[in-house]
Amino acid sequence: MADRQISLPAKLINGGIAGLIGVTCVFPIDLAKTRLQNQQNGQRIYTSMSDCLIKTIRAEGYFGMYRGAAVNLTLVTPEKAIKLAANDFFRHHLSKDGQKLTLLKEMLAGCGAGTCQVIVTTPMEMLKIQLQDAGRIAAQKKILAAQGQLSTQGGVQPSAEAPAAPRPTATQLTRDLLHSRGIAGLYKGLGATLLRDVPFSVVYFPLFANLNQLGRPASEEKSPFYVSFLAGCVAGSAAAVAVNPCDVVKTRLQSLQRGVNEDTYTGFLDCARKILRHEGPSAFLKGAYCRALVIAPLFGIAQVVYFLGIAESLLGLLQDPQA
Ligand SMILES: *[C@@H]1O[C@H](CO)[C@@H](O)[C@H](O)[C@H]1NC(C)=O
Repeated sequence: MADRQISLPAKLINGGIAGLIGVTCVFPIDLAKTRLQNQQNGQRIYTSMSDCLIKTIRAEGYFGMYRGAAVNLTLVTPEKAIKLAANDFFRHHLSKDGQKLTLLKEMLAGCGAGTCQVIVTTPMEMLKIQLQDAGRIAAQKKILAAQGQLSTQGGVQPSAEAPAAPRPTATQLTRDLLHSRGIAGLYKGLGATLLRDVPFSVVYFPLFANLNQLGRPASEEKSPFYVSFLAGCVAGSAAAVAVNPCDVVKTRLQSLQRGVNEDTYTGFLDCARKILRHEGPSAFLKGAYCRALVIAPLFGIAQVVYFLGIAESLLGLLQDPQA
């Protein structure tokens, strides 16, 4: 959007601040998305996003909606750093003597950066998904236990109160995964993540550029901020919905714990086939609405933070305290 020169530290601080605000605002929706995507037919606990959030608050408290948020809060800045560095690297190597990049090359640079980004994203998502989904599995067990008690009502069945499910932390999970499966354990679902994120960029960048163009007053001027802002939100949501099928497969592949009677999968194609056969094509849109609702504010917030130049003001204050 903006062509002004921004230093790398400023970009990082902007990215970090945008990430922190973004996670705080939309993490609960992200949690609902994971839980809705992991529900298989016949085992449903949640009927919609709001239903999922209400039940989560009842069973796990307000902070229950933020299970796994620490992973995002910790890693959002390193993730941005890799993406920015990779983007600069590819743009530099694709541009002929400092000329502006063509749209195709912009897309290539975006894809290259996206590919580097998954080095951080995949383990992040892996940990986040286990933490987010644990509450759903626990709720399912509780319901089944209650049903079991009902069916043996009148008998002398002692109340088999299920012991409180253990709540592993992200560090424990990482240690266990590394111990049992090595590095590959953290990178489960890498292929699905790439299949989601590379097409995302392919849809997002041209769509954004075209929408942004629509609101340009004169051919040589830049679009006003609100146009870029809206273009970013619309393009982000549209791209998110377009790649949602890959996101569903990715969530299923990365979830290590299965609920009762839920299918297990050996890989991307096996998972896609089983979802199609057992749940029908509409299952590939599970959580799509939530994902659009997550992505649009994340993009919007990032653009506002960049536009306001929050990091530049902060750095300026540091360098020039009298100002
Ligand atoms: C958390 O991080 C992952 C990996 O980058 C991202 O896909 C997801 O959208 C993030 N969630 C939130 C709410 O920021």
